[in-house]
Amino acid sequence: NAASKGAYEFYMLKEIDEQPGVMRHMSQNYLDENGEPKVDQDILDAISKADRLYIFAAGTSYHAGLVGKTLFEHYTGIPTEVGLASEAGYHFPMMSKHPFFIFLTQSGETADSRVVLKEVNKRGIPSLTMTNVEGSTLSREATYTMLLGAGPEIAVASTKAYTAQIALQAVLAKALGEKLNNENAKDWDLRQDLAMAAEGIQQIVDGKEKIKKLADDYLIKSRNAFYIGRGIDYAVALEAALKLKEVSYIQTEGFAAAELKHGTISLIEKGTPVVAMINDPVTADLTRGNIQEVVSRGASVITIVGKDFAREGDDIVLPEINYYMSALLTVIPAQLLAYYASKDKGLDVDKPRNLAKSVTVE
Ligand code: G6P
Repeated sequence: NAASKGAYEFYMLKEIDEQPGVMRHMSQNYLDENGEPKVDQDILDAISKADRLYIFAAGTSYHAGLVGKTLFEHYTGIPTEVGLASEAGYHFPMMSKHPFFIFLTQSGETADSRVVLKEVNKRGIPSLTMTNVEGSTLSREATYTMLLGAGPEIAVASTKAYTAQIALQAVLAKALGEKLNNENAKDWDLRQDLAMAAEGIQQIVDGKEKIKKLADDYLIKSRNAFYIGRGIDYAVALEAALKLKEVSYIQTEGFAAAELKHGTISLIEKGTPVVAMINDPVTADLTRGNIQEVVSRGASVITIVGKDFAREGDDIVLPEINYYMSALLTVIPAQLLAYYASKDKGLDVDKPRNLAKSVTVE
């Protein structure tokens, strides 16, 4: 039974461990025998007419949208905006001539997202909901639906829905980019990338004991912490920080690595944990410089670094992957750090105080 905890103490770890399977499932469901994406022709016809994509979501799904923006822009060439549904509902974004809306929602029931979709429908704008729940409200009310197929997610803190949303946006970006004759999309071996994501996630979760030790040594005694990164790593830093703070109650902020020096660095004290992520080839060296800045102010730095950029002394070296898909790997140690920080503080990992899995009020 997909929804049972089995031998796991908490759903969150079970769901983290399920992510290699989620990636394989994505390939099976959405790629044909030649590795070409299978997306409904109606969806591709509608979205290929768009001059701008608008992604709206809440919480972790919003963070998946931030990664999706980079995928859509790189592989389709269509400018893409990402916004918080709760803000857009009452301050609707300025529209391009031919907008297309994408809603990311694990549950398909988030009230804040639904407010935006209602307005979209009122204006006759086409839309797509990417959701884990077939027949959910946002699925029924949007023009089109694509299902995440991640299996039931029970832990309040979202893990496998986030990686599934990134992978599914990759599938759509590939299909759309090929239809639009985008060179990046045509050269992209998505099947291989999804296979590398599945294997890479497996390697990381197999090494979870080391990550638990980092959580125990650096995080659990701290009141606050930081995640920093640039490019896609910045988007992942926001999700990583949300994950850690929501389940462990350690106040954590995600920052663009270079922004620290514009103010936040004043919060760094001796022993403040700073988790730095490096996958972006363009800015890798600059982020190293930002790490030095916090080290010299006494921070305890944990590094999560792509294989190509690894240096002696890095804490977590990620298996190799295409930069545009790197969020699928970088987020996994962050999910595990959050899990162990919460569990080893004796908290109820699956049910953090004050939070609900699906929020149907504005
Ligand atoms: C709630 C959950 C979050 C989730 C957000 C959006 O606040 O606690 O984990 O990311 O809603 O949910 P959705 O189902 O729309 O992805």
